[in-house]
Amino acid sequence: MNTVLTSSPEKAAAFIRAGDVVAFPTETVYGLGADSFNPDAVEKIFEAKGRPQDNPLIVHVANLGQIEGLAADVTDTAWRLIDRFFPGPLTIILRRHPDVPSIVTAGLDTVGIRMPSHPVAQEFLTACDTPVAAPSANLSGRPSPTSWQTVHANLNGRISCILKGGRTDVGIESTVLDCSRRTPMVLRAGGVTLEDLQEIVPRTRMADEIPDRPLSPGQVHRHYVPNASVQLVSHPSEAQPSASAAFIGLDAPSNGAAFGLTRMCESKEAYAHELFDFFYECDRLDMETIYCQKVDEKGLGRGLMDRLLRAAQR
Ligand code: TXA
Ligand code: MG
Repeated sequence: MNTVLTSSPEKAAAFIRAGDVVAFPTETVYGLGADSFNPDAVEKIFEAKGRPQDNPLIVHVANLGQIEGLAADVTDTAWRLIDRFFPGPLTIILRRHPDVPSIVTAGLDTVGIRMPSHPVAQEFLTACDTPVAAPSANLSGRPSPTSWQTVHANLNGRISCILKGGRTDVGIESTVLDCSRRTPMVLRAGGVTLEDLQEIVPRTRMADEIPDRPLSPGQVHRHYVPNASVQLVSHPSEAQPSASAAFIGLDAPSNGAAFGLTRMCESKEAYAHELFDFFYECDRLDMETIYCQKVDEKGLGRGLMDRLLRAAQR
């Protein structure tokens, strides 16, 4: 398959309307989209990524009006969160409208909905004129792509079109918040922090604090794995420097030149922005070990540590 590269949201949207799949930028990571009401088109996403069919997709909307066609009932709590955080890096899980194809929700009775704030995503979604189901635009199990060049390296020849934008801003995926029950539960930490959510709805909890919590299907699959082995360290002095070892973190190693590659980040936000790009660069340079400095699990640190722990799991 020839993969068309374009900077035109209009041109990319024409592929969606024709039932094809398109990679597009969002403020979190690049997504791989298809018309959410066309099950044959959505099927192509799973094929291109090699994604397990039991993992539901997030549906991306251009405007609040599209939510009514996707969710069966939007609670007052959900509306307050939507009001505050849409558009932005938050996915809200609601009871699904019966018209949403079951391939999108992997047979669940809920659906994840998100409105990206990235200006190119907004132009693209508006031109699609239909909600767009989209997972991250990586091969299943690999880190999410934060540049169109990484999407191209992952999926060239497997998808119809790549809509080019710059590097994504947040760098890790959206927060997934289950609003289908009384206590909103964070199923995946991400761009919107627990603290931010609790300002609007104080009873919001992390799902892993709740016994017998429902698991998000995506959280049980292998994720974010570079080819190199990922080792977590509290301080750079714990890392073993060598030409085939890389280091990323908040503090500079005293012997930085002895590593094959290092990246210093001045904040957790900068660390999240760099992480997946760094993983892909380490793979291009054939690094054997990537040392990642741990961060405290506050604010964006929760999402960042979640990605680091998963990447370190083999
Ligand atoms: O930032 C993001 O969220 C990016 C961009 C492209 O929007 N998308 C993304 O999609 O990360 P994906 O498919 O890689 O991750 C979606 C996560 C998975 O863990 C999936 O299991 C969960 O959201 N999810 C989707 N629908 C769900 C539902 N109805 N109930 C529970 N979890 C759901
Ligand atoms: Mg993903």
